Parts: sequence; structure tokens; C-alpha cells
Amino acid sequence: MEKIVSLCKRRGFIYPGSELYGGLRGTWDYGPLGSELKFNIKQEWWKTMVKERDDVVGMSAAILMSSKVWEASGHTQSFTDPLIECKICHQRFRADQEKEIEEHEKQHSKKKEKVEWTEPKKFNLLVEAKLGVIEGEKNTAYLRGEITQGVHVNFKNVLNSSRLKIPFGVAQIGKAFRNEITPGNFTFRSIEFEQMELQYYVKPDKEKSMEYYEFWKGVRMDWYKNLGIRKENLRFREHAKDELAHYAKAAWDIEYNAPFGWQELEGVHHRGDWDLSRHQQYSGQDMSYFDSEIKEKFIPWVIETSGGVDRAALFFLIDAYFEEKDREKNGAGRIVLRLHPKLAPYKVAVFPLLANKPELVKKAKEVYDSLKTEFAAVWDERGNIGKRYFSQDEIGTPFCITIDFDTLEKNDVTVRDRDTMKQERIKITELINYLDKKLK
Ligand code: GAP
Repeated sequence: MEKIVSLCKRRGFIYPGSELYGGLRGTWDYGPLGSELKFNIKQEWWKTMVKERDDVVGMSAAILMSSKVWEASGHTQSFTDPLIECKICHQRFRADQEKEIEEHEKQHSKKKEKVEWTEPKKFNLLVEAKLGVIEGEKNTAYLRGEITQGVHVNFKNVLNSSRLKIPFGVAQIGKAFRNEITPGNFTFRSIEFEQMELQYYVKPDKEKSMEYYEFWKGVRMDWYKNLGIRKENLRFREHAKDELAHYAKAAWDIEYNAPFGWQELEGVHHRGDWDLSRHQQYSGQDMSYFDSEIKEKFIPWVIETSGGVDRAALFFLIDAYFEEKDREKNGAGRIVLRLHPKLAPYKVAVFPLLANKPELVKKAKEVYDSLKTEFAAVWDERGNIGKRYFSQDEIGTPFCITIDFDTLEKNDVTVRDRDTMKQERIKITELINYLDKKLK
């Protein structure tokens, strides 16, 4: 983890939030490469979950939501973690995070102190915001604790403004905020994070709804595997009854085998009619669906897939990180991020063999300009070729292209593959086709 955290900082993937002023715990800023990675993850998700489907539409709701929404959804009452406090140093922990508690006790025992804990009390995770211009008359709103409710409160709006028929889904990507008691493990548990979610509305039928549930579990697991996470590092885990969130009838997590143990990457939840029924009850508005085929009115049930963009980014990075012991021809070992080409921040790097030969630089710039409108491309002319390869491997760039003296005569370039380190000569006129095929 230390190596990943250091690579992320050094190469511009992820920086600590508000670092200039000493930091703000549980917040992270994504640098040039991190924001490209996140953008690619979100784009792939949107492609699979919305664009390639006829039964799913997207939406984008406000982050700030009325406190009434959260009363209805049950979050003001039940969105809590059990909090305990160390009576010696007053540090607070989640009572269910055994490893962190053990670690804390160890720290004190080194000083020959025995920790006593307060009784667990419920700590609400919603982040409050005070809105309004007049002091004393400010209204409490909440930054959304899950992006889900923005979709459910718009169920009727989406239905009335589209021609969707059940079963259908509404997808959304956006920020969520939780007052986590112990943010940690780098971006894994943050206060501010991004979610990508599907709310899939189905008929209230036990058997059929479970078929959809299994279907979406499969879609989500395949999505991670198809984007290169090794299958031995992924598994499903069912939530025990006492673990279920207040809205869930059933829940399975997709877990990743992280350096700090198997951890939740995404949740697939059967939310039943919880959300729409509660919003109907609290708003007094009809949230039912009229099925014109069977001439029946009902409150649909919801199957939800809910993944974290930041957790996905972190686990994609961890899974792709390799330190190669075998040596390149010049004797230097390398660090390589074997990111799936669809996720790699840059797809191709272009270099002139020598930065001080204007004819090479001119030709290389021409190649670079022709590629950068097609693929995320980067220019590099620092140091020697070996160092440039090393630098691109470390950030996961799948291909490096070198323009040398032969290029000027034969109009071809050297293309070097990140994973195999093999080099091929490719005609400049063939380059876009060649890369297009390889990057799919
Ligand atoms: N709408 C359902 C829901 O929010 P969740 O299991 O609480 O379910 C879904 O969260 C996903 O959001 C998690 O699987 C995780 O990827 C991400 N997530 C949740 N809390 C997070 C946090 N504090 N920091 C980073 N990601 C988080």
C-alpha cells in the first residue's frame, strides 16, 4: 500500500486533500493522471450500464437534498455506525472495526496502558449543511449520504418524461458524503467519494425479482473482470441478516482481495419497495406505477447495484501494480502498471529518439498531432529512451512510439508494447489502425 500511495502522489494520480494547509482527513484530490483514470472508469461504467442498454436511462441529481428526503429514506434514523471512544486518549473508532481497535490497544500497551472503551453509541453518518443567508434562520440540508435517493424522488418525473416500461433502470454517477468515524486505508474509506449506481425497477414478484438480482450480480462481477481485475482477487460475499442496511431485503458484496484484507468494492442490493413506499408515505404523493398490460397499479421493487468510483480506481491500481524482477536489456528493473488499455490515463506516448535533432522532433510532433485527436496521447522528450519507457510503464501507458532516423527515410516508427516490451516497426499510415485494434 505504501508503494501505491507513494506512486499515486509522485506521478499525479492522487494527493491528500487540502495538503497545503495540513490536510483534511478523509478527503483526496485527484491529479492529472488520477482524474483521467476516474473519468475512464466512469465512462466504461456508463457504456455498459446505460449506452449499451435499451432499458436504462441516466440522470444526475443535486448533491444537496432536503432533510425531508433523508427522514423518508430512513437515513436520519438508521444511517448510523456504532461508535466507541478510548477513555485514555479520546480517539473514536467504529465498534465493528476489530483490526483498528486491536491496533489502537497495541499502541497503548506499548506504553504499558490498558485501554478502556466507552459503551457503543449510535453515530449518524449524514453530513449536514446549513443553507440560507440570515444567521439564525438557516435551514439544515444534507449532502447526500448515498446518491440513490436523488433517483427515487424523481421516479415519477423520469417515468412521465420518457416511454419506459417496467422493468427499467435509472443510472447515476456522483459524489456522496459520509461522516466516517475512521476514514482510512488511503481512499478506501473517505468522507467524500463518488458512487456509480443503478436503480432497476421491477414488478413486485419474489421469484422474478430474484432473477433480476442474480442477473445484475453477474453483470457487475463480469464488468470488473473484463476490465482486467484478476478473477482470483474477486469474490461475492452475502450479508448476514444482522448486517443488512435498513433498506435491504438481500445484499451481496463484490469484494476485492486488498493488501489490507478482503474488502467491499460494490454492493448489489434488493431494496424491495422500501424507497418508493417511504417517499409515498412521507410526501403524500402517489409513487405507484400503472402497468397497462395487466391493468394493475403497484409500487415497484428495486434492485440496486452500487459501486464506488474511488474504490474501483484504488483496486484497479493495486491489481495492476507489478514490480518486475527480470531485467531489461539495459539492466534496470521496472515498475509497471498493467492497467487495461481502456482505463490507462494515456494510451500512447510519442518520443523523438533525440530531443536535440530538429528533424526528428518535427517528424515526431507530426505523428503526435495526428494521434492525439484519436487517443489520449502524451509527448515526452526528457532523458534517454530507457528512462522514458520506465516512466510510461509506471503510469500504465500501453504503447510508446519512437521516431528515429529510419523514420525519416522509411516513414515507419518503433512501437513498443508495455506488457511484452516487444518492439515492432509500423508504417505511420497504419498507426491509427494498429493502435485502434490493440486498445480495444
Ligand atoms: N446506495 C447503496 C449504498 O450506498 P453502500 O454499500 O453503503 O451502498 C456502496 O455503498 C459503495 O459505495 C461501496 O461498495 C463502496 O464502493 C462505496 N463507498 C461507500 N462508502 C464509502 C466511503 N466511505 N469511501 C469510499 N467509498 C465508499
